[in-house]
Amino acid sequence: MLPTINFTETEAYKYLADHFIDINEKSLKDLFTEDKERFEKFSLLFEDILLDFSKNRINDTTFALLIQLAKECKLDEAIKAMYAGEKINQTEDRQVLHIALRNQSNTPILVDGKDVMPEVNKVLDKMKDFSARIISGEWKGYTGKAITDVVNIGIGGSDLGPVMVTEALKAYKNHLNMHFVSNIDGTHMVETLKTVDPETTLFLVASKTFTTQETMTNANSARDWFLESGAVKADIAKHFAALSTNEKDVTAFGIDPENMFGFWDWVGGRYSLWSAIGLPIALSVGFDNFKALLQGAHATDQHFESTPFESNIPVILGLLGVWYINFFGAETQAILPYDQYMHRFAAYFQQGDMESNGKHVDRNGNEVTYETGPVIWGEPGTNGQHAFYQLIHQGTRLIPCDFIAPANSLNPLGEHHPILLSNFFAQTEALMNGKTEEQIVAELQKDGKSEAEITKLAPFKVFEGNRPTNSILLKKVTPYTLGSLIAMYEHKIFVQGIIWNIFSFDQWGVELGKQLAKSILPELKDNEPVSTHDASTNGLINQYKNWRA
Ligand code: F6P
Repeated sequence: MLPTINFTETEAYKYLADHFIDINEKSLKDLFTEDKERFEKFSLLFEDILLDFSKNRINDTTFALLIQLAKECKLDEAIKAMYAGEKINQTEDRQVLHIALRNQSNTPILVDGKDVMPEVNKVLDKMKDFSARIISGEWKGYTGKAITDVVNIGIGGSDLGPVMVTEALKAYKNHLNMHFVSNIDGTHMVETLKTVDPETTLFLVASKTFTTQETMTNANSARDWFLESGAVKADIAKHFAALSTNEKDVTAFGIDPENMFGFWDWVGGRYSLWSAIGLPIALSVGFDNFKALLQGAHATDQHFESTPFESNIPVILGLLGVWYINFFGAETQAILPYDQYMHRFAAYFQQGDMESNGKHVDRNGNEVTYETGPVIWGEPGTNGQHAFYQLIHQGTRLIPCDFIAPANSLNPLGEHHPILLSNFFAQTEALMNGKTEEQIVAELQKDGKSEAEITKLAPFKVFEGNRPTNSILLKKVTPYTLGSLIAMYEHKIFVQGIIWNIFSFDQWGVELGKQLAKSILPELKDNEPVSTHDASTNGLINQYKNWRA
């Protein structure tokens, strides 16, 4: 069982609330002037990943109090409970064991007294064998041709992780063309099918439950398309595989159980890329690279489990988020990778974070009296700079940002990478230091502007600065470092859920819309006006009925 402590009633919270008044008066510039050791103190090197959190609005006292907060909230007990296979997903009565999927040390992990590692390893072996046969061309389609294209059909956690990772690791990919169909909008499937050949395409139906409406509708359409190409039912076995926990429905769909890659209900959908759901990753970059991804995540898991909070990266990232959300009133958090391959990283953690910590009821079943999970957003640099950075620099909101960049490019092209990184370094410096009125005036004078022009322009050009950032510098984007980085963010989400006393591993909030859509669908069958909803919904449905062809 997880602790059920209201963090706003801890000693640390009370001290932090007082301390916030002092810190809020201080500028980051002052904090750096006051403490020459600041970078050494507030940065951590973990293998090939450097986390610099020194450009945050904290000092030694803040840091000590945040650590105290984690201790008072019994974060250590919560971590132990997760690693020990306790049913910490209490509202669904399940364990939370994505750590077992990447447990490369193979130490026993018990679920109801039974070691799950033999089962985990069995599926990994099956994925290894299958991916090798597809990649080598040994596996043949129904007309005897090798597979050239893989279409993953899934949504949410059965899509976003594989999409993000296959994109992030594109430099490591082989000849297979990867496609991902998630949206129920027929356009997604139709446009994808235009680019593939049924004789050489492998469909992966990825769904933990195998009941998700979008995925099953897309899978049925793909199967119809395949059968219309001249293939017969028996050929489905050569072109469809399932990644799921639901063997009964997989078989009913017509997929050979031999082509089913299983996982377990203790794997949350948004934490499932490490399971059979990761098969498209293994197909795209080869099993050895998939294994390296797991190894990287495992290294973070060990770090998270055993490192004192003071130098524990996920703990620190989580606590800094709490500091901004609950004391500074920050509502959002930007994730800004300076790496084009990582262009879906923020989108991936939109689900990871917002589906986990977008909750307003605490673990005692009571309405919370404080803010919980932030809005997560972001785009790769430098594109973001030319779009929304204006608001980050000069807007009225405080937006803590994570800047992520690799020291080495996978595509060293002329001066591109130094230019990219000069922007990465410049942005956090600019956000911290800003630009004072005196500096602006001096610049304008140098440009030969008149006093009147200077007075008019100067207020608009001032940057107040003092905007906090984390910088995460990777030696290089490799399967291993990517695995480590993803796991850091996963555990950060866990840390915050524990502090906020919410359940991070259920997602009841997505159910209501699904239920209503199911009840509205039959009403769309005929052209009779509807009157069973509120006036707005009735009006929209009836206009749709009028307009539809
Ligand atoms: O959006 C809700 C959700 O349940 C996610 O948590 C999950 O990742 C997604 O739907 C897909 O579910 P499934 O893998 O069962 O199709």
